[in-house]
Amino acid sequence: MSALTGKKIILGVCGSIAAYKSALLLRELQSRGAEVRIVMTPSAAEFVTPLTFSSLSHNQVYIDMFPDREHSSAVGTWHIDLGLWADAMLVAPITASTIAKITHGIADNFLTSIVLALRAPLILAPAMDADMYIHPATASNVARLKERGVIVVEPEEGELASGLSGVGRLADVTGIVDEVERFFEGRHLDLTGRKILVTAGPTQEPIDAVRFISNRSSGKMGFAVAAAAANRGAEVKLISGPVALETPRNVARKNVSTADQMLEAVAKEIDWCDALVMTAAVADYKVLNPPDRKIKKTEFAEGTPRIELAENVDILKSLSKKKGRRVFVGFALETDDMIVNAKKKLVSKSLDLIVVNNPRVQGAGFGSDTNRVTILSEKDQEAVELPLLSKYDVAMRILDRILPLMPRS
Ligand code: CTP
Repeated sequence: MSALTGKKIILGVCGSIAAYKSALLLRELQSRGAEVRIVMTPSAAEFVTPLTFSSLSHNQVYIDMFPDREHSSAVGTWHIDLGLWADAMLVAPITASTIAKITHGIADNFLTSIVLALRAPLILAPAMDADMYIHPATASNVARLKERGVIVVEPEEGELASGLSGVGRLADVTGIVDEVERFFEGRHLDLTGRKILVTAGPTQEPIDAVRFISNRSSGKMGFAVAAAAANRGAEVKLISGPVALETPRNVARKNVSTADQMLEAVAKEIDWCDALVMTAAVADYKVLNPPDRKIKKTEFAEGTPRIELAENVDILKSLSKKKGRRVFVGFALETDDMIVNAKKKLVSKSLDLIVVNNPRVQGAGFGSDTNRVTILSEKDQEAVELPLLSKYDVAMRILDRILPLMPRS
């Protein structure tokens, strides 16, 4: 299911040759479950007929400020009503002229009036000739809109309608709709420029060439943190133990197997990151001197077979001297004395936050897609209990807590 399901989207269309692609955008938004209303500038109607959009959207298309004078007394507030109706507005393609109008608050047609009345997020996908896009006037308008929190889906480079080549081609339709989806997944780009290192999954400690000691970690929580961070614009490196999960989009993954390998991989990246989120269920012990062949049953002496264990290095503790201003987040699985034990780990592992859960609680077990966690912070030692949430939503909440702890870059 898409986060766009049931969302009300205004799709604004401006007068660009790329306006025909808005029909594809409309279909893509609809296929992800959005309810779409179309608003066109009068010049957009020169490129694509309103009939195309009214047929596809099964709704009236809004173009004129004063369309049907005998229609109703509510005509004068249509732009306000529609502005309040929307969960988001996407203008794609948007021209240099409409960008300039929006930047300066000019409301001289239905589309630009709605933008002023809009309370929902605004997403713009420009399309124009390269010279127009890189013109200092357009560039500075786009920059100002971004500062105001408007999302701009940058145009692509390529051959343009003018026959010239350069940046200005409307971004890929799917990519634009992905961007709209981001909003509804709570994925703002507030982690842009941040470097987040995430560990996930179990480790496997070999007993011999074919057997190992491990745990039930599925890796889902760590992968959710990596995906959520990447979706919020962070640069993400994920160091994963053996799991059966797909690498999230825009995440650089390194696979490891043992705790020692995980330590080495984390130590290599620690200087790079702004935050380390250790969701991995690192094995506390490894088998001493495992042979690289299969042990035969007959090799064990009479009586109870024994395996000699050695303690693994605590990754978080061993890196505490490198912490500096980095944010360290640990995870703890506690079945008893949850808060007391978590607080001890918070201190002993020099953590800023510890996320603790009890696998015995319903919905918080191994391999589940949901989790019920409590977050403790080093600053106030206060325990914040979260409700049962999807692991993705838990990840979002954790990132919300990490963000203010990171020094401004
Ligand atoms: N951790 C680590 N290195 C280890 C073991 C654990 O960095 N060798 C990290 C985990 O990734 C987790 C946190 O420490 O973020 C807490 O892990 P946990 O296993 O709960 O803590 P332990 O110190 O091993 O305590 P215990 O198993 O006795 O509860």
